Amino acid sequence: MTVSVIVPAAGSGTRLGQSKPKAFVDLGGRTILEACVAGIVEAAVADTVVVVVPADLVDDARRLVPATTVVAGGAHRSESVRAGIDAAGPDSDILLVHDAARPLTPPAVFTRVVDAVRAGHPAVVPGLPVADTLKQVDPSTGPERVVATVDRDLLRAIQTPQGFARDALLRAHADDTGLATDDAGLAERCGIEVHVVPGDPLAMKITTPWDLRIARDIVAEGSP
Ligand code: CTP
Ligand code: MG
Repeated sequence: MTVSVIVPAAGSGTRLGQSKPKAFVDLGGRTILEACVAGIVEAAVADTVVVVVPADLVDDARRLVPATTVVAGGAHRSESVRAGIDAAGPDSDILLVHDAARPLTPPAVFTRVVDAVRAGHPAVVPGLPVADTLKQVDPSTGPERVVATVDRDLLRAIQTPQGFARDALLRAHADDTGLATDDAGLAERCGIEVHVVPGDPLAMKITTPWDLRIARDIVAEGSP
């Protein structure tokens, strides 16, 4: 079976607050994008890798990650993913969508996701148990009023790579309402069953300056 990994890297990184888009920010001597692609190569699950970047950075990305196919993304993450699906072409049986913003994801996470899709699950996501106590609030009051304490044993914090049978990802994106925050969310909305395999703390997403600090420390220690 042919496996393609789509790497959405076309966001601007507003919450990170750097002068350049997040995927082009330094992570211990190379860009977040290069680190992410190196992790995908190390995982050795992919036949092809498609990287989706801001239109004005396509040439830069081609220099940074020459072994990949680089295409321009869109204004929203799901548009960027669709650009990646188109570029991956019709020959991929399994498509993984993996955020550039999770450059430290260990190979074993890729393997678990791909193995579960190969085993016949149409949509597979890595997830972790939640450590904090979670409360639902009514944000209309100030200070916010607690409505309920949610049973965290039944919750998972979801990461990427998210893996799909090609048909499932196409169906999910054909029905994009613009409300889902991940690809599996789109799949759920059109009735596709999504399964969870164990994620890894190293698959953390770099969103804020705090996350970047942690990721840089992990890289500097040299033992992710
Ligand atoms: N992404 C994308 N195209 C977009 C928006 C996001 O390819 N139009 C990618 C990002 O580059 C990132 C991943 O989707 O790798 C997850 O998005 P997020 O962490 O939100 O990154 P940004 O959108 O860049 O950050 P922010 O929301 O803070 O601006
Ligand atoms: Mg974003």
